[in-house]
Amino acid sequence: MPEFSPLQENLHVDACIIGAGISGLTAAYLLARSGKQVAVLDKGPVAGGMTQATTAHISNMLDDRYFEVEKLHGREGARLAADSHTAAIDRIETIVRQERIECDFTRLDGYLFLAEGDRRETLERELDAARRAGLRAVEMVARAPFPSFDTGPCLRFPNVAQFHPLKYLAHVARAIEHEGGRIFTGTHVDSIEGGVPAVVQAGKHVVTADAVVVATNVPINDRLTIHTKQAPYMSYVIGARVPPGSVPQALSWDTGDPYHYIRLHDDLLIVGGEDHKSGQAADTPERHQRLEAWARRRFPMMGRVEFAWAGQVMETQDYLAFIGRNPMDHDNIFVVTGDSGMGITHGTIAGMLLTDLILGRTNPWEALYDPSRVRLGAAADFARENSNVALQYADWLTGGDVASAEDVKPGGGAIVRRGLEKIAVYRDPQGQLHERLAACPHLGCVVHWNRAETTWDCPCHGSRFDRYGKVINGPANRDLAPAEKSQDKRAA
Ligand SMILES: Cc1cc2nc3c(=O)[nH]c(=O)nc-3n(C[C@H](O)[C@H](O)[C@H](O)COP(=O)(O)OP(=O)(O)OC[C@H]3O[C@@H](n4cnc5c(N)ncnc54)[C@H](O)[C@@H]3O)c2cc1C
Ligand code: FES
Repeated sequence: MPEFSPLQENLHVDACIIGAGISGLTAAYLLARSGKQVAVLDKGPVAGGMTQATTAHISNMLDDRYFEVEKLHGREGARLAADSHTAAIDRIETIVRQERIECDFTRLDGYLFLAEGDRRETLERELDAARRAGLRAVEMVARAPFPSFDTGPCLRFPNVAQFHPLKYLAHVARAIEHEGGRIFTGTHVDSIEGGVPAVVQAGKHVVTADAVVVATNVPINDRLTIHTKQAPYMSYVIGARVPPGSVPQALSWDTGDPYHYIRLHDDLLIVGGEDHKSGQAADTPERHQRLEAWARRRFPMMGRVEFAWAGQVMETQDYLAFIGRNPMDHDNIFVVTGDSGMGITHGTIAGMLLTDLILGRTNPWEALYDPSRVRLGAAADFARENSNVALQYADWLTGGDVASAEDVKPGGGAIVRRGLEKIAVYRDPQGQLHERLAACPHLGCVVHWNRAETTWDCPCHGSRFDRYGKVINGPANRDLAPAEKSQDKRAA
């Protein structure tokens, strides 16, 4: 990836974009191409967030089904959703062509097949709903073209796509600079104030801007509103070589919940699934094993698993991302979040939609993706996810995972209770202990150890921290506090 320097001066720009993943970089690129002066700030490197964990299916097959989207957003809403995802695929292709990006962008077919135990009726309902949404070319076929396993009847979504997301974004970042935009990495944003101008504080420096786009995956500026309308889920992925030609170039998904997703990159078969609510599963390493067993039954020619990783997706209560003006904030603060497992297209939609909003142009998708929207039919999901969050606070009443820090093995982590406090204890492979307060700095839920990723994951709204307590994902915008603080407090 291209490297950039941290922000070392105060700046004024037309638009300040926070976050250099697919969402932030697409917005910055399109705004810069429209003649706006942009600055992108990221605490890490370019595309170092969830975009580096993606499997990059670029698709208008909706993970949550068109018939479900239609129930909540109506027929017109489902049509706009289909249009916007199709437009996102087209826009990525246009950018690839315009900028001559070598990122393995390929148009191919996608196949939605039945999960074990599911019935053909699911596909029939989805076929009807997808066609009502305007995807006339979707069709039922006898099976997906995998020689090694018979999927049974499935829906073919023609002309979807895949690419290598990092190769794509490396080039988009250079194109932003070429258009006069500026990118600053290693630049943590501490606060964002709307108004004229909006003020973004990043360490000792300030960026003032006419508009700010918060593209940090999970917003770091919204304390509660949006976080009650979406929930974080971890998703697991493996990659293993297959003999050339033994698996066709296609995207595919099953209808399970959680579902499996499959693609090929050269001779690497990439299979994902086994999702669970973040911070709420103790068997994280076993999830990769189960994924491998599932894949091996269908692709027996698979070599050994060479890659295994996981990442977080944000599931909204009504299946579509939140893109637009930040609720209950100044009019010039915009957010994008709630990827719903389709963040490559949702992130690209965000780039297009937010560019229009910032330039004062109308956009037919504005109401559909409005972060302030409330869809009445989503109330049951809303209540279930929020009572699940409320339950997580009961963690404060329980003991630790282990009795004391002595019980934590090298390379492992566990929660230890000390009086009223809970401590997140990590022991590095050399045996040294690293202790932080286990209270998530967002709204105080107790973080959980993720054995597969060796991270501390909050079970409430998506904050994640590395093994030393450094924040990886919002909404928390601070690291876990040092454990000494609790001793100081008790001493005081
Ligand atoms: C395993 C997995 C598989 C997936 N597969 C698919 C798929 O096949 N198709 C699809 O469409 N989507 C998929 N997704 C979803 C999609 O990849 C993501 O939604 C998308 O990449 C998120 O992009 P983003 O730009 O919104 O966020 P990110 O890529 O996370 O970027 C956010 C950036 O904000 C920065 N940031 C955060 N806080 C601050 C701060 N305080 N100051 C400065 N910078 C900050 C971070 O460093 C980061 O670089 C998948 C996701 C996962 C995890
Ligand atoms: S993410 Fe909200 S309390 Fe941790």
